[in-house]
Amino acid sequence: MSNSKTVSPVTRLRGTLQAPPDKSVSHRAALFASLSQEPTVLTGYSIAADPGSTLHCLQQAGVTLTQQLDPDGLTKTITMEGFGREGWRASAAKSKENGPIEFDCGNSGTTMRLLAGLAGGAGVYGRFIGDKSLSSRPMDRILGPLREFGIHSEARDGRYAPFLVNPLHPSTKDSMEVNSMPSGKVPSPMEFDLAIASAQIKSALLLAGLFSEMGVQVREPAQSRDHTERMLHIPTEKGWFSSSVHTPIPPQTLRIPGDISAMAFWMVAATIHPDAHLILENTGLNPTRDGIIKVLQEMGATLSIDERSTTGSEPAGRLEIQSTGYLKPIHLNGDVIANVIDELPILMVAMAFAKGRSEISDAAELRVKETDRIAAMATILQNSGCKLTEKPDGVIIEGSPDFIPRSIVADSLHDHRIAMSAAILALRASGPIEILHPECTAISYPTFWEELARIC
Ligand code: S3P
Repeated sequence: MSNSKTVSPVTRLRGTLQAPPDKSVSHRAALFASLSQEPTVLTGYSIAADPGSTLHCLQQAGVTLTQQLDPDGLTKTITMEGFGREGWRASAAKSKENGPIEFDCGNSGTTMRLLAGLAGGAGVYGRFIGDKSLSSRPMDRILGPLREFGIHSEARDGRYAPFLVNPLHPSTKDSMEVNSMPSGKVPSPMEFDLAIASAQIKSALLLAGLFSEMGVQVREPAQSRDHTERMLHIPTEKGWFSSSVHTPIPPQTLRIPGDISAMAFWMVAATIHPDAHLILENTGLNPTRDGIIKVLQEMGATLSIDERSTTGSEPAGRLEIQSTGYLKPIHLNGDVIANVIDELPILMVAMAFAKGRSEISDAAELRVKETDRIAAMATILQNSGCKLTEKPDGVIIEGSPDFIPRSIVADSLHDHRIAMSAAILALRASGPIEILHPECTAISYPTFWEELARIC
């Protein structure tokens, strides 16, 4: 694919779209399947690059798996041989003899953070690397708590990949002493009261806890996505989630539900376009991820849900969205932010078309995603003529239903969600918008450009 893609405004949007497999659930299904002693079959697994990084890393650890592209070419079926905690411990023993296992996580923060918890907890001597973007994202947010838990690490500048977990040198030889409590002593779990509502930090700790006699208890300041708790049946009491070596691993054979974060782009496209009618099939409706629907409805979007179903442990449904002439502005802050964290870039596009002042606050986390998503979206929207003020933790947008974005060059900065947000903005522009590095959509939504062409 060339290094840019031009999207022109269109007069009509029509069609039915199938949600691609959920990225967060795909990662977890594969990681958790590796913890099972039983063989697992995962159907409808994502063909996107990030969940592929997780599979590759599992193979590096010694997990035996096969990947078969499904006849429609849109999903994969993964079969995995039982590996279990024992497999991970054997892998740990091997790594201590043969040197570190290299985990190349590509662009995937979820792979890096969850796997550091899992492999670190198992005692694997691992070296974690990622691409340029991932190597600039903070890893101290997991390495710090994991260190408190007894899992040592050495990171570049103390906080970035490449990093080592359970490095072998004399001062850290007993890195897993937390797992070898003297017999007879009843250990109490180590508590982590998180400062950031992050599913990645929560999951990394719960996965590390699975190898420990003492175990962990984790509490978060606001609810982040709960796929880990659902899929592993993690017990919870008064807001504390806990795991230990005694937590059973439920069978993971399942079908991956559709990705609401991918469907968010079409929801906003249909909402802001004057002549649109889209049906979104099999969209994941997990209540810790469905904030985008609630926010758009609050803004006045014409959006309804039917044909509700359950896929694995996740609710899903069919969405119908039509043009909305008048959108109300909105202020997003506090607890809802974690629920819509990946949808904030495309919600900024919706805000640009709402009548009046919208605001996003408490979203400083957006600055440490695949790019600084506040700065990236501020640049694109301001260049296109939108009145936007950047804040340290969000944006203020003076929107208008009459806003006609200028024809611009939009730099995605290789961030999939920025590229897709710019593409949706272009559908309402005065002329073509050229999007740089469009191939990055393969990170989460490899068929995005084909789907866009199909509904235009
Ligand atoms: C993810 C959690 C979110 C989200 C990311 C995927 C996950 O990150 O932004 O795209 O699968 O756990 P944080 O929970 O760290 O904010």
